[in-house]
Amino acid sequence: MATFTQQLTRRLTKALTTLGHDSRQGKFIPVVTAAANTRFGDYQTNAAMALAKPLKINPRELASQLIEQIDVTDLCDAPEIAGPGFINFRISKQALATRISSLINDKRLGVDTIASTKRLLIDFSSPNVAKPMHIGHIRSTIIGDCLARAARFLGHDVIADNHIGDWGTPMGQVLYGWKTHLDQSAFSTNPIKELLRLYQLVKQQSESNPEIAETCLEETVELQSGNAENRALWKQFIEITMTGAQEIYKRLDIHFDTTLGESFYDPHLAPLVEKLLANGIARESDGAICVFSNNELDPKEDPLLIQRDGEWLAVPCLIRKKDGGFNYATTDIATIDYRVNEQKVDEILYVVDDRQSLHFRQLFEVARQRGITTSLKHIAFGKILGDDRKPFKTREGTVPALGDVLNEAVERARKMVDEKNSELSAEQKSDIAERIGVAAVKYAELSQARASDYVFSWEKMLALQGNTAPYMINAYVRTRAIFRKLEDIPRQPAGELSITEDTERTIAMKLCQYGEVLPEMLCDYRPNLLATYLYELAQNFHSFYEQCPVLNSQEPARCTRIALCETSSRILKHGLNLLGISPPERM
Ligand code: ARG
Repeated sequence: MATFTQQLTRRLTKALTTLGHDSRQGKFIPVVTAAANTRFGDYQTNAAMALAKPLKINPRELASQLIEQIDVTDLCDAPEIAGPGFINFRISKQALATRISSLINDKRLGVDTIASTKRLLIDFSSPNVAKPMHIGHIRSTIIGDCLARAARFLGHDVIADNHIGDWGTPMGQVLYGWKTHLDQSAFSTNPIKELLRLYQLVKQQSESNPEIAETCLEETVELQSGNAENRALWKQFIEITMTGAQEIYKRLDIHFDTTLGESFYDPHLAPLVEKLLANGIARESDGAICVFSNNELDPKEDPLLIQRDGEWLAVPCLIRKKDGGFNYATTDIATIDYRVNEQKVDEILYVVDDRQSLHFRQLFEVARQRGITTSLKHIAFGKILGDDRKPFKTREGTVPALGDVLNEAVERARKMVDEKNSELSAEQKSDIAERIGVAAVKYAELSQARASDYVFSWEKMLALQGNTAPYMINAYVRTRAIFRKLEDIPRQPAGELSITEDTERTIAMKLCQYGEVLPEMLCDYRPNLLATYLYELAQNFHSFYEQCPVLNSQEPARCTRIALCETSSRILKHGLNLLGISPPERM
């Protein structure tokens, strides 16, 4: 089902062709956008201005020729020219009614699959072994899952891969800690907590004591060369970590297609480095093996160079240490090879925080030097801050564990449910509180601009008003309540729909735009575009519902309003599901 944007673009292209401006030769493609201010119309195009400039003709004149020529009578009221030559389109109430009638029967809610679909690998969550998932992982996990859901719905072939950190130096540190400082009873009570304690203790010790650092490295080497004891312990560490992670994924309804982890690529590392040496991409430097800039890029764009005191210095990508050990980057290079050659992907998205941005820029540059053309993108995000605008911490000053954050959110949601409604059974209340609590944490994340830092606030996250999960869920619950009142309401209107009131028009317009928002959100990987859309839809729904009686109105208003309620309900639920949120039917 073509969106209004697509239909207007086609009509515009046709009118331009008739006027002798053939846009098909790749010369000019008119752009139609949803208007930021709907006072003057729903859609806008700057086509006349963009085209008039190179042709050196008057843009307003071209605009008036265009609105003379364009055939949109079935879609819009008469188009209008504004300012230096914008053309505004206001969709007619009739066209809105027609589209709403077809939306109710459309399983895809007016969202077409994308024309050029890809095999897309999304690398997200990726916690490290022997550490519980902390609040920093929340962003990767929730954003990555949302992108995977949206990409699948739009038709891409998605592989969700959990690239867990289960190899390298930290493993040696936990092994050494286990052998020297294990508190067996603490381990029996809370294994992951004890592993984390060991890791932190030894990490600290090795920073001040080179001998311990050396022993840890030896433990890593033993592990990597197959020492049976170390392997068995390591397997146990992975199992403990993943059991904890799995509980969280289950609660968050998050699923992976593959969980290969860094260790999976280990057998490829040594041959990879040899190959890179042989083909001249890597070379030796001070005993280590590195990839340097090959000076093909503008130095300003080259992540293997840095400017100091007016001079460009090398910041090579290290792929084998002096002692023969491999680096995080080596594993990531090998991982790209596997994903490209074995998994046959067209694009890889790395949903990882922005502190790793140099790592990814270097990784992508190494891939470029090797002639890999697969699209590689770092979907970076900022930090979660506390009220003091410093990285969010618990009262004890530690990084909060994700599981604890979810528990607290659910507890707070439970209080809200208890205050709101006493008719529900205790079991129903627990289910609703779990859904709202999890939704609040996810929505707080997804409604933020991905690239910026944001302040974590319990009050804001669980407020019933504002751009929050409870507000959104409340709107959805309201739509469901209408249908509960009358079991036999026909979901399919018998007669023609008729839109007359302003609030009807506003919500109908919003509903028709779902198919425009989703591709746009995936294009820039910005879940907050979808969140904002749903927030506006919820606001529009509340206004419509307050002003327009539904069940007590006369036909054709009644069936129109029922159709608007039903479509709102479905789009709210569907959109929330794409955000990874499963709203309750009551609250
Ligand atoms: N395990 C890493 C960390 O927690 C993230 C891995 C991201 N993915 C990757 N392919 N490097 O920092």
